[in-house]
Amino acid sequence: MAHRRSVVVGCGAYLPDTVVTNTNLAERGIETSDEWIVQRTGIRQRHIARPDETTSVLGTRAALAALDEAGLSPADIDLVICATSTPDHTFPSTATQIQAALGIEGGFAFDLQAVCAGFVYAVATADRFLTTGGAKRALVVGAETFSRLLDWEDRTTCVLFGDGAGAIVLEAREGEGKDIGTRADRGVLSSCLRSDGRHRAKLYVDGGPGSTGTTGKLRMEGREVFRFAVGSVTDVIEEAFRASGTTADDLAWFVPHQANRRIIEASADKLGIAREKVVLTVDRHGNTSAASIPLALDAARRDGRIREGDLVMIEAIGGGFTWGAALIRW
Ligand SMILES: CC(C)(COP(=O)(O)OP(=O)(O)OC[C@H]1O[C@@H](n2cnc3c(N)ncnc32)[C@H](O)[C@@H]1OP(=O)(O)O)[C@@H](O)C(=O)NCCC(=O)NCCS
Repeated sequence: MAHRRSVVVGCGAYLPDTVVTNTNLAERGIETSDEWIVQRTGIRQRHIARPDETTSVLGTRAALAALDEAGLSPADIDLVICATSTPDHTFPSTATQIQAALGIEGGFAFDLQAVCAGFVYAVATADRFLTTGGAKRALVVGAETFSRLLDWEDRTTCVLFGDGAGAIVLEAREGEGKDIGTRADRGVLSSCLRSDGRHRAKLYVDGGPGSTGTTGKLRMEGREVFRFAVGSVTDVIEEAFRASGTTADDLAWFVPHQANRRIIEASADKLGIAREKVVLTVDRHGNTSAASIPLALDAARRDGRIREGDLVMIEAIGGGFTWGAALIRW
């Protein structure tokens, strides 16, 4: 029997209209400067959602754009996964709200919470359902309104994040090879996930329904996160290469979580991935957590960089810590 693969058939994104530059932040009384933020992070601006633009609103717009590119209608989807840490409500899940907004009446939907690694976790999870016959077509959404978790008095964190959403449609298709498939197949070729909850205090939100009864604000030990991100994330990337029988030389595009330009470039250098293969959107979007990878995929699709057949590595690390990588032949 041919091996089933989860093939990307559509990709879309949505960014709120409101753009806030680094200079705008300084003008609003935050003790910072464009120079400091650009030099430390590469971020120049971020998009901020209006009050009526909730995470499900952003996610639905991105999902519609992905369905449009796929030439599919919402009724063709039987699985919706939304990776988010900023759900509209504690429950029901944002994924079910996206499902309803799209008018999908069948299948199933759920949220996945792995903070900035959420989209990689969601792709790996959807892939398991699709390749084992649990679903036929999955909408995998990363959507966030991180601006609502920020302490705007804390300049060490509030300058780093932004809002947005991205989505891909994955479809179960028969691959080329027998039983195990071949690395020439289109689709998700491998994925590797990790977490280590001992690092909680380095990146967390100081509230929640089960503790304070409030949403809380984001807290971070920036240097510790930086050190871990550059030092540890390569293990999942190397494992994803190994599991698919590919190497960094086979890669067309490296699409990492967009948190910080210095982290991204240090990771690429460590892995021997040429700088021209790295997709960077952090300058325009800031860190949009689970939305950053599908936003970057969409940008590189639309400007003609990512093409069918290209080998693409996605990779992220987030609070927990959680981290992961997936190799996709587009
Ligand atoms: C946050 C980060 C940019 C800070 O850079 P850094 O070089 O580690 O800077 P430090 O925290 O050591 O701070 C250096 C100085 O800049 C100051 N500073 C912090 N934020 C500032 C800001 N927004 N504007 C101006 N100055 C700032 C600090 O107060 C400190 O001043 P001091 O030396 O007088 O005490 C960096 O640690 C980082 O990117 N970490 C990873 C964060 C991340 O990606 N998180 C998400 C992962 S999913």
